[in-house]
Amino acid sequence: MSPQVESFFEYLRFPSVSTDSTHKKNVENCADWLINRFDKMGLDATKHATPGHPVVVAGNAVKKDRPTVMIYGHYDVQPVDPVEEWKTPPFEPTLIDGRVFCRGATDNKGQNFAHILGVEETLKADGDLPVNVIFLLEGEEEIGSPNLAPFIKANRDLFAADICAVSDTGMIGPGIPTMTYGLRGIGCLEFVVKGPSLDLHSGVYGGAVANPAQVVARLVASLHDEKGRVQVPGFYDKVVPLEKWERDMWAALPDGDAATLAETGSPGTWGEDGYSSLERRWGRPTAEVNGIGGGYQGEGSKTVIPREAMAKLSFRLVPDQDPAEIISAAAKFLEEQIGDSCRIELDPGHDGPAYVMDPHSKFGKAAQAALKSTFNDDPKLIREGGSIPIIQDIKDILGIDTLMMGLALPDCQIHAPNENFTIENFEAGIRLNQNLLRELAKS
Ligand code: BES
Ligand code: MN
Repeated sequence: MSPQVESFFEYLRFPSVSTDSTHKKNVENCADWLINRFDKMGLDATKHATPGHPVVVAGNAVKKDRPTVMIYGHYDVQPVDPVEEWKTPPFEPTLIDGRVFCRGATDNKGQNFAHILGVEETLKADGDLPVNVIFLLEGEEEIGSPNLAPFIKANRDLFAADICAVSDTGMIGPGIPTMTYGLRGIGCLEFVVKGPSLDLHSGVYGGAVANPAQVVARLVASLHDEKGRVQVPGFYDKVVPLEKWERDMWAALPDGDAATLAETGSPGTWGEDGYSSLERRWGRPTAEVNGIGGGYQGEGSKTVIPREAMAKLSFRLVPDQDPAEIISAAAKFLEEQIGDSCRIELDPGHDGPAYVMDPHSKFGKAAQAALKSTFNDDPKLIREGGSIPIIQDIKDILGIDTLMMGLALPDCQIHAPNENFTIENFEAGIRLNQNLLRELAKS
């Protein structure tokens, strides 16, 4: 195994699950490992404590005559559940047929480590970099980056950059260079519907008091009409429509409906009337149920009216929807349907706005040139449905755009069991970083 892959495996072995407090120390240890790694390659690295998990900042000596590139990534990962569906232990990186299986392999350790190694390679080869580089690696992306924007605001001088670069998005297929010029935003909202003060015999009381599980089902069903349009009042008021050039450009990509079916295994597509699968995924807002529960879930039947039931919702958002406005409109919409037969408790979660940049800007062109020389093909320009909440904050606080050149393949299974990253993309990522810094130095 090459020393680079060995080092990658060390990074992957930290179970840096940010959402789970039992892993707090593992997240911290992962940050320490990064600091060490940066030290070893001659960058100046600092670990910054936050009210949550630490932020790692590292860079070379600033020279005035070259541009400054900030490279953002995250070293935290999603939980591994359901653990029984993993074919290999989730935190023991395992190489099978050219793919590394491990939680975080693609999202995002593999992708940010490729940037780190690209810098290391260039330093080894040239003794210096063509740009000033500032790495910003956080441990809270998967929980909505609650402490990062305040950190950047308080430390603006550490991040005096001309442009930001991130590999935390996807490629539309193996070997197809892909530049992502937009992401959806997100707003989360969970709620509990409470009815009787205890679980009831459904024969004795059924039909005479509200059943919280039925109420949750009704609320969830009320989110969409039969055309797949979200019914929260005002939901579409600020939506910026897709432009003709993007709709045409995406229509020319390999069949998005077929890809959506193949990637998901779903029997059919579904969504807002009048839009293609790619448009629904990349450029239109949605309401999703991420979890729903209540009542008896065990074997056989149990005749019960549960005293409460719950659902976890998230809304994927597009420019210019305001996440806070959408969450409160949704909360009001749910509350107004409740009446007095039961109560609802609403708990807004994390949020972040959508982001769109001009792919034809000077730096956008540099990113495309780097992608082209890495993959020997013209890059495809896409937007994506996932969210990286800090990207719009970086624009608002530092005034700079972010170039998103992701390496995640459609079958890399991020957030799911058996997440994996191909060695091919790991190596391409190292070259991509080197090409990118060279192109940015020219622009
Ligand atoms: N890397 C993803 C975002 C992503 C995935 C962008 C695929 C484009 C394509 C990121 O780590 C992520 O999962 N973000 C979360 C953010 C949320 C927890 C605030 C998301 O999108 O659910
Ligand atoms: Mn993720």
